[in-house]
Amino acid sequence: MYDIPFLDLPPLNGASGTVRLPGSKSISNRVLLLAGLAAGTTAVHDLLDSDDTRVMLDALRTLGCALRHERGPHGPVLHITGLGGRLAVHEADLFLGNAGTAMRPLAAALAVLAATQGGNFRLHGVPRMHERPIGDLVDALRPLGCTIDELGTPGYPPLRLRGSAGGGLATDTAIRVRGEVSSQFLTALLLALPLVSGAGDIAIEVDGELISKPYIDITLNLLVRFGIAVQRQGWQRFVIARGSAYHSPGSIHVEGDASSASYFIAMGAIAAHGGAPLRIEGVGSDSIQGDIRFIDAAVAMGAQVSSGPGWLQVHRGRWPLTGINLDCNHIPDAAMTLAVMALYADSPTRLTGIASWRVKETDRIAAMAAELRKLGAAVVEGADFIEVTPPAAGAWRPAAIRTYDDHRIAMGLSLAAFNALAGMATGGAAGPVHAPCPLRILDPRCVAKTFPDYFEALFGVATADVNDVPVIAIDGPTASGKGTLAAAVADALGYHLLDSGALYRATGVAAQWDGVEPDDEVGLARLAGLLDLRFGHGPLTDAHSSRAWLRGQEVSDQLRTEAAGLLASRVSALPAVRVALQGLQLAFRRPPGLVADGRDMGTVVFPGASLKVFLTASAGERAERRHKQLISKGISANITDLRADLEARDARDQSRSVAPLRPAEDALLLDNSNLSIEASVQQVLSWWQLRRPFR
Ligand code: DC
Repeated sequence: MYDIPFLDLPPLNGASGTVRLPGSKSISNRVLLLAGLAAGTTAVHDLLDSDDTRVMLDALRTLGCALRHERGPHGPVLHITGLGGRLAVHEADLFLGNAGTAMRPLAAALAVLAATQGGNFRLHGVPRMHERPIGDLVDALRPLGCTIDELGTPGYPPLRLRGSAGGGLATDTAIRVRGEVSSQFLTALLLALPLVSGAGDIAIEVDGELISKPYIDITLNLLVRFGIAVQRQGWQRFVIARGSAYHSPGSIHVEGDASSASYFIAMGAIAAHGGAPLRIEGVGSDSIQGDIRFIDAAVAMGAQVSSGPGWLQVHRGRWPLTGINLDCNHIPDAAMTLAVMALYADSPTRLTGIASWRVKETDRIAAMAAELRKLGAAVVEGADFIEVTPPAAGAWRPAAIRTYDDHRIAMGLSLAAFNALAGMATGGAAGPVHAPCPLRILDPRCVAKTFPDYFEALFGVATADVNDVPVIAIDGPTASGKGTLAAAVADALGYHLLDSGALYRATGVAAQWDGVEPDDEVGLARLAGLLDLRFGHGPLTDAHSSRAWLRGQEVSDQLRTEAAGLLASRVSALPAVRVALQGLQLAFRRPPGLVADGRDMGTVVFPGASLKVFLTASAGERAERRHKQLISKGISANITDLRADLEARDARDQSRSVAPLRPAEDALLLDNSNLSIEASVQQVLSWWQLRRPFR
C-alpha cells in the first residue's frame, strides 16, 4: 500500500498478465454481519481486508463475536462465532469510518435488537460519513417502535439506538422504505428484520423507484446462504417468513470484487493490445454481483471479453473506443470507470441514472467532472448525469488528480496514465500523437477502502516505455549518507530502490563462496552476470527494509560488513564485472520509478536520469558521523584516524581509472555536512518537484 502524499504514474503503454482481485466489499461486509448475527461458527474464505471491512470486524468484536484468523492452505480464513440473534453486549460506541456497508446494516440490526433486548449503541464515522444520508432508514425503523436519536444533523449519522429489554416491535403492518436514495436502506432492513420475525411474517414495501437493484440481489442471495428465504414480489414488496432465524452455512467463500474488476476490464480494453490478454481472477461468469454487468458496457465501448467461472480475459477490441449513452442505475460504482474509459473514445460518452454518485464517498459527479477536465476532457454534469468529451489529440495535459478520500476516483483516474495510447493507431505503428503525460494521484492511500494493493496490482500488469520511467540518481563519497538518503527518497515517492553498491558487495561475497580469485576478471564477470540476488524492499508493504538474499540465503548483515566493502571495492574496479552487472541494474527501472544510489548511476547506468544528486559532505563531518555510529555499536574509534582513512579512500576513489568517484556533469551538488537526513530528503524532493510537470 502506498501511504504517501502522492504517487506519480509514468506514462503507461500496455497491459497484460494476470491480476488476482481482492474480495468483494459488498459481499464481505454482508457476510461478516450475517455471520456475526447467526448461530454457530462460520469460516469465511477470501474475505476482503480493507478499511471498510476492518471497521465492520472491529464492530463485531466489540459486540462480542468471537473472531479467529487462520492461515489456510488456500489463503487466510476468518472464523466468526455469531451471536445467535442474542445481544452479548448492550452498550457500545462503534466507529464505522466511511463504510456505508457497515453503517446502514449495523444501524438497522442494532436498532431492532436494542428495541427488543435492551441496549444503547452509538454509531459514528469520519466527517464524510456524517454527510451521507441515513434518514430514509431511520424513518423506516421508527414506526416499528425503534428509538433512534439523531446526534448530529437530522437524517445523518451519528445515531444512537436505544431500547429496554422486553420491548415489542410493530411488525404486523408493512414497513415502508424509500428506494431512490440508496439501496443500502432496503438491504439494511432485509438483514435486520429476520432477527425479529418470531411473531409473524414481516413485509417490507419500497416507496418510489428502487435504485441499484443488483445490490438487493446480493443481499437476497446471501440471506439464502444463512437460512432466510425472502419472498420477493417485483422490486416493490419483500416478505420475511415468520420464525426465520439465521443459521451459519459453516463455510462461505467471498468472490472477488466486480467493481474492482472494472478497472482491469477497462485496462484490458485500453491497453491489452499486444498478443497477450489481461486475465482477471476472482470473478467471472458465475458472479452474483451486479457490477459484473459492467462487462456489457465495456464491450459496447470496444472491449473484447471472454469469461468462465471465476475468471475474465480482456483484450482490446475496437480502437479507439466508442462513446456510449447509458443508463447506469444497475452499475452505479463501476460506471465511474466508464467515465474514464470515455477519455479514449472517438465520440462523447453520456452516463445517466447516477444521482446516487452525489451521496457516496464524495460528490462523485462533481469530483469526476473536475478531475477529467484537468486532463483535457470537456465535461458537462447535471443532477443525475455526466457527459464526457475526450481530449483532442495533443490536448492531454499532465494532471495532479485530487482523490477526495474516494477510492474509486483514485483507481478510475489512474487509467488516464495510458494516455500515450490515445489517438494512436492500432498496433502503435505511428507512435503516440502527443507527448505522453505523467499523472499524479494525490493521497493514493484512499484505495485502501476496498483495494489496498491496487497500485501494486496495476504495476504488476502495466508496461511502460523504459525511457518514460523516471530515475533519480544519488551518489557521493563513502559515508556521505547516500544510501540512507536514497532509501528515504524512494520511500517518499513510492519508487523502487537500487543500492548498486550491494550488487558489488554480493558479487564479492559470491566469489568468496565459490573460491573465485579477486583478480579473476572473467570468472567474476561470469558470477556477476548470474547473480541471484533478491531484495526485500520495494514500494510494497514492507517498505525499504533493505534485506537481501543471495542464492536464497539471507545476506543482509554480511553485505554491510567492512570485509564485503573491501571485496566490493576490488571487484568493482574490473570493467567486465561492471558490464556484467548492468543488465541487473537496468532491470530495476520499472514503474512507477527508481531511485538509484552508487558510483556511476548518473553517468554510465542511467545517464538520462531525470535528477542527479551528488553529496559533498566534508571528510570531517563524515568522520564524526561514522564515529558516532561505531560508538553506538560499542566499537571504539578515533576521529582523527577515521578522517584520515576517509580522505585516503576519497583520493583512491577519485583517481581510480575505472568508474572514478566524480559527480555527473549535470548533477546537483548537495552539501549535507550540516543537514539532517530529513532536511536532505526535503531538498531532493523539492528539486524533484521542480522537474515534474505538476503545479
Ligand atoms: O556504496 P558501497 O559502499 O556499498 O559500495 C561498495 C563498493 O563498490 C565501493 O568501493 C564503491 C563500489 N561501487 C561502485 O564501484 N559502483 C557502484 N555503482 C556502487 C558501488
